[in-house]
Amino acid sequence: MLLKLLSSLLLLATTRAARVRRESDCVGTINSMDDVADAVRCTTVVLNGFTVPAGQTLNIDLLDGSTVNMNGDIHFGNQTWAGPLFQVSGDSITFNGNGHTFDGGGPFYWDGLGGNGGVTKPAPMMKIRTSGTFSNVKVLNSPARTYSISNPGPLVIDGLTIDNSLGDLPNSNSNGKAAGHNTDGFDASTEDLTIQNSVIMNQDDCLAINRGANIVFRGNTCSGGHGISVGSINSDVTVNGITISGNRIINNDQALRIKTIVDATNSRVTNITYSGNIATGIRRFGIIIDQSYPSTIDTPGNGVQISAVNFVPPQTSIEVNDNAQRVAVNCGVGSCVGNWDWSNLDVSGGVAGDITNFDGITGFDE
Ligand SMILES: *[C@@H]1O[C@H](CO)[C@@H](O)[C@H](O)[C@H]1NC(C)=O
Ligand SMILES: *[C@@H]1O[C@H](CO)[C@@H](O)[C@H](O)[C@H]1NC(C)=O
Repeated sequence: MLLKLLSSLLLLATTRAARVRRESDCVGTINSMDDVADAVRCTTVVLNGFTVPAGQTLNIDLLDGSTVNMNGDIHFGNQTWAGPLFQVSGDSITFNGNGHTFDGGGPFYWDGLGGNGGVTKPAPMMKIRTSGTFSNVKVLNSPARTYSISNPGPLVIDGLTIDNSLGDLPNSNSNGKAAGHNTDGFDASTEDLTIQNSVIMNQDDCLAINRGANIVFRGNTCSGGHGISVGSINSDVTVNGITISGNRIINNDQALRIKTIVDATNSRVTNITYSGNIATGIRRFGIIIDQSYPSTIDTPGNGVQISAVNFVPPQTSIEVNDNAQRVAVNCGVGSCVGNWDWSNLDVSGGVAGDITNFDGITGFDE
């Protein structure tokens, strides 16, 4: 009897609990801009395919712990404006692209000038302000810079595709030059970020880190652009703890680069570790560390200290084209410091290049 009473009390209690489910335990579906505000009150969101009206940002500001599933492709109306075209924010978010595409309409904007002139282009196209995971999303033809990442906590980006390869060709507005320009893959001035297993086809840096810490870039393929960059580094910033490993770098201007702005002061770049990267078809420099940016291998500044740039196993292997330089290190007086172990670097082809104002590199001969 007592047992029966107890069990019916228990049943009552569990029914109550089920009834007071959180209001956010629902599925929000986005079929157009009009649905966004309601959908993000749910912690499960379905993003269906539609066209975002020109001049608007598809801005998805999620409850913490939400999951988003893409279920179709997103297009954007074409208009010359600053963007971004897409923005997502929230903590502990699982964003699944499921292989679907954000189509930036690049050919509408491309004029060979990127951010340096011509029409105003939405840049960045994609602004990611989430922690958690962001995976399996494709971007086609970004107008200029593609992703800007400013994660509020640890974020893993996995299995993305950025395909701006059409921008390698000239168009009627680009005076014979590649139509796509400044189409950076990832601009990541942030902390606690991993970008992995992604493919980036573009006409500028595959990755550019202007400041930040604890960033891992691994198992990616960079094709056609300007390589994997730390920089450009301006005044009063620190970069500490970057791991670049197991990437393939194909037909880029340079494979691996650190660029610091010539008149920058009070900045520090340290603890940069490369391993197991394979580069082929490199057009200008295999490795370039240059403190004369935006010039190239010109009079260097010394306001940015660079230390602990190391190549660890497995070996990084770089093949440069006939007239390209294998390794160029252009330090300011006294601003490259410590011992850098380059014994796990092999660079072949081309011509040697100079190492200026620094003798701390060990294990590597030009
Ligand atoms: C924007 O322009 C691009 C390139 O011309 C085109 O492919 C795309 O369909 C246009 N987008 C819309 C929504 O009309
Ligand atoms: C180097 O970076 C790693 C990864 O972010 C970090 O764990 C380590 O503490 C850093 N080392 C130093 C000396 O700052």
